[in-house]
Amino acid sequence: MGVSNFLQAKTEGRKLSMVTCYDFSFARLLSKTAIDGLLIGDSAAMVMHGHSSTLSANVEMMRGHTEAVARGAEGKFIVADMPFLSFRKGLVEALDTAHILMTAGAHAVKLEGVDGHEDVIERMTQSGIPVMGHVGMQPQSVHTYGGFKVQGRSSAQAQAILRRSKTLAELGAFAVVLECIPEKVAEEITRAITIPTIGIGAGAGCDGQILVLQDLLGMNTDFHPKFVRRFVDGAHTMITALGEFDAAVKAGTFPTNEETYR
Ligand code: KIV
Repeated sequence: MGVSNFLQAKTEGRKLSMVTCYDFSFARLLSKTAIDGLLIGDSAAMVMHGHSSTLSANVEMMRGHTEAVARGAEGKFIVADMPFLSFRKGLVEALDTAHILMTAGAHAVKLEGVDGHEDVIERMTQSGIPVMGHVGMQPQSVHTYGGFKVQGRSSAQAQAILRRSKTLAELGAFAVVLECIPEKVAEEITRAITIPTIGIGAGAGCDGQILVLQDLLGMNTDFHPKFVRRFVDGAHTMITALGEFDAAVKAGTFPTNEETYR
């Protein structure tokens, strides 16, 4: 899978699947699936480090997770998130960050928004750095919205998200994440642009879908947004297994002779 396969999938009407991944052990599992791409999301700050928003992700954090995923995700297309403000402090800093993430093992970078950093996106796409856009609800702007809220409900907002998606395509982005917008808006954008739209909370009309891995595996018991489907009750399954381990240790039934070196 690569950038050209993403574009080809849209042309051929084939849906694209992506999940987030932050570590080596899950990357190894994901390398055995047909999932099209892995995103080292800046959601790592929340999912892996317990912060309340993605604003706490930084370049060193993203580099570490990207290196770990790249070691395990043989054959997978890997996208790494540009952390908060790393692409807003000037062209050189943005390119340095992309350089770090790409040499850590990413095949592409993702960044939120367009307005005010068109030059960064254009320079990256012209420098051999595949760029994935991210519009709609941009988690790095959580304090502007006053919370993680659906965007694009008013006609003016919807038109702005459409315009930004078109600009991303014109600047050479290979795909765009549409997060938490009404399905009609996502459908209109998907029809209007030639690059694939990857939805999260944006309905079934997108060219592909992405979810946070721990959410789809049901590992997060405190987070129930409408758009997340739990494909397995991971929390229950794992807590049960851990309980069985604990009980076996305390009952003296683990380890057995077979589980012991002689
Ligand atoms: O950081 C992230 O996990 C993301 C996805 C929600 C698209 O940006």
